[in-house]
Amino acid sequence: MLFTSSAVLFLAAFAVAKPAPSKRAAVAFVDPNTDGGRMLTDADGLDGQAGDLGEPLNVIISGLSSADVLTDAGFLNYAQSIGFSFECLGLHLGGPQSANLGDGNGFVNQTVEYRQDYGDEELGTCLESLIGGNHLRVFRQNGTEANTGALFLAVSQEENVAEGHTIVANGYNLGRNALAATAIAGTTTANGVSYTTVAQNLTTLLPAGTAGVNHDIATDGITTLLTVTIV
Ligand SMILES: *[C@@H]1O[C@H](CO)[C@@H](O)[C@H](O)[C@H]1NC(C)=O
Ligand SMILES: *[C@@H]1O[C@H](CO)[C@@H](O)[C@H](O)[C@H]1NC(C)=O
Ligand SMILES: *[C@@H]1O[C@H](CO)[C@@H](O)[C@H](O)[C@H]1NC(C)=O
Repeated sequence: MLFTSSAVLFLAAFAVAKPAPSKRAAVAFVDPNTDGGRMLTDADGLDGQAGDLGEPLNVIISGLSSADVLTDAGFLNYAQSIGFSFECLGLHLGGPQSANLGDGNGFVNQTVEYRQDYGDEELGTCLESLIGGNHLRVFRQNGTEANTGALFLAVSQEENVAEGHTIVANGYNLGRNALAATAIAGTTTANGVSYTTVAQNLTTLLPAGTAGVNHDIATDGITTLLTVTIV
């Protein structure tokens, strides 16, 4: 009897002493604007100072998606299921951008950049590099002040290489719409993993227009929230 209660006390003490695991918050995302962040990337290294221009973070992969989709390898596979892949032969065109997702991490460089793969996961993005197409940058909301695991994407349609890979007219809206349309068209599959995606348009995160937007290309201010489930 005495032994049993001591054992219980010992276990209770152990449970209290154990550090709390840093658990991901079970929410779709936290609006970066609420804690010093913003829904535009930093394209010019000014880190949010006056005159800083960036690309709209116009797609969010919800933190309520299947956990594996939110990992680096899992997101690459999902991206491949909707027609994107890693950059041509691992070559990187242009500098990375950063973003402040209001999660306590401040401005952090993009995690990765993927390009439309024209049906070939290995070499198709080489074609994108030449003829232009859709591309995306990924930022993860995982700082301690908003550890949602959500992935914020800056999606845009690019010109071909001769045009210096600038964004086409209306390229932010077009890139977002094309990605979302492919994602929700039906079950998507890559390397044996299948996904269903539900989309919801959010209009309160970023104002419509050109304020702060790189290349002076207006956006409609819509951010599409995608909740991705592995089936
Ligand atoms: C972000 O990328 C730039 C360019 O590659 C690099 O100079 C800088 O050190 C990076 N910043 C961080 C915080 O990794
Ligand atoms: C947060 O995400 C970044 C970018 O993917 C990663 O480098 C970093 O290790 C993550 N931090 C934690 C605490 O998981
Ligand atoms: C979101 O808005 C875009 C642009 O108006 C539209 O093409 C798309 O169908 C909308 N998606 C949803 C899920 O409402």
